[in-house]
Amino acid sequence: MARLVIVSNRVPPPRAGRGGASAGGLAVALQSFVAPGTLWFGWSGRVVDKPSGKPRVVEGQGVSYATIDLGSDDYDRFYVGFANSSLWPLLHFRLGLMRYRREDFEGYLAVNAGFADVLLKMLRPDDMVWVHDYHLIPLAAAMRERGFTGRIGFFLHIPFVPASVLEALPPARDLLLALCAHDVVGFQTQTHLSDFLDCARRFSGFAVEGQEVVTNGRRVRAIADPIGIDAQGFARVAARAAGTAYIQRVRESLLGRSLAISAERLDYSKGLPNRFEGFARLLARFPQHHRKISLLQIAARSREDVAEYQALRRELDRLAGDINGRFSQFDWMPLRYMTQTVARTKLAGLFRIAHIGLVTPLRDGMNLVAKEFVAAQDPADPGVLILSQFAGAAEELTHAVMVNPYDPDAIAEAMSTALEMSLEERQERHAVLRRAVFDVTAARYCNVFVDALKGH
Ligand code: F6P
Repeated sequence: MARLVIVSNRVPPPRAGRGGASAGGLAVALQSFVAPGTLWFGWSGRVVDKPSGKPRVVEGQGVSYATIDLGSDDYDRFYVGFANSSLWPLLHFRLGLMRYRREDFEGYLAVNAGFADVLLKMLRPDDMVWVHDYHLIPLAAAMRERGFTGRIGFFLHIPFVPASVLEALPPARDLLLALCAHDVVGFQTQTHLSDFLDCARRFSGFAVEGQEVVTNGRRVRAIADPIGIDAQGFARVAARAAGTAYIQRVRESLLGRSLAISAERLDYSKGLPNRFEGFARLLARFPQHHRKISLLQIAARSREDVAEYQALRRELDRLAGDINGRFSQFDWMPLRYMTQTVARTKLAGLFRIAHIGLVTPLRDGMNLVAKEFVAAQDPADPGVLILSQFAGAAEELTHAVMVNPYDPDAIAEAMSTALEMSLEERQERHAVLRRAVFDVTAARYCNVFVDALKGH
């Protein structure tokens, strides 16, 4: 049987597993799927003076985790530069934040070529390679140039954009051609998929037949395969966590007030300033909720070497201070704002006791927090999910209270609606959401993708 090789920029530490402390959504979804014998390859997360180029291999539960270090120039051009200052803003529709430099793109290609060199030495001819996310778009093309003919699939975890946005990126065509070096290319939603097919038609010069791009040598199959979570596992962790001393302390600190919760990386795609403004408008326009609600915003610091993230942090510090300054009373502080990382088990418990899950990104590939919030609820007395219409999850979670995150008044009104929603309506909405989250799981996501790759 062909061996599965996973490649992603971040590689989880062995045995971080389902409840792992700091593993991101991508890692958690895949780790519940990887079987003994799998090879997982990527960046170690370390930046060193002289990278050896040799992978460090660690075994965990039969899985080999192979990682390499980056030099500081590579880190600046590949990770801080092209991946996170060009591609990330572009693919989140933020052209105003996009910064492009030719040397960054060259660094991006060079790191991908280096990854290909190291990976190919570890591969067997019949291996099936599954590459993840925007950091590694040119990896397959580099592997093909070096003679690899086996199956390679690619999954984009973040949004894809319409041609009128993509064309702003100078090497847009190179990236599309690189995507066409795969056998299967996967997207989170139907919208991202059709935008990709449209871009392929316009920029690559290849024919598009149905969901396939016909290149000179192969047919590239494009699929929509929404990522999910281990819903049963997360629901169990949440129910258990609700009884812990930590959650007990949180409950006591609330003094019977409703908890609204938001949790994500501190990233401009997540719409944090708009959300803070929405919360401020709730307090200004609906004084009946004063003293009755606390918003807990967890925004884990992220990509701190990228200037836009530093600026966003300063802005949020100011906004948080402003909201609490304007509305706090001597025994009520409406906003609790934390920039530390919170362990997944604690988060699960916080979701369980929250009355509102506030998930309002300006753009998001999927947003697994929305799915985790739903899974964590008690079906007998569920909280309300307020969801941005621009999160990939909105295609599936249609029974959330949907908002346009650019409209702070809409966020305020949705919060007020959620606080006043009857038990019956909460239960009805939650039952439909729960079915969606329990049907489209992490395991299903992995199986759909790997089956498509096997069948190619
Ligand atoms: O979801 C997108 C993503 O870039 C993942 O690939 C990544 O693991 C996560 O966000 C965290 O970002 P970073 O790897 O830049 O810390």
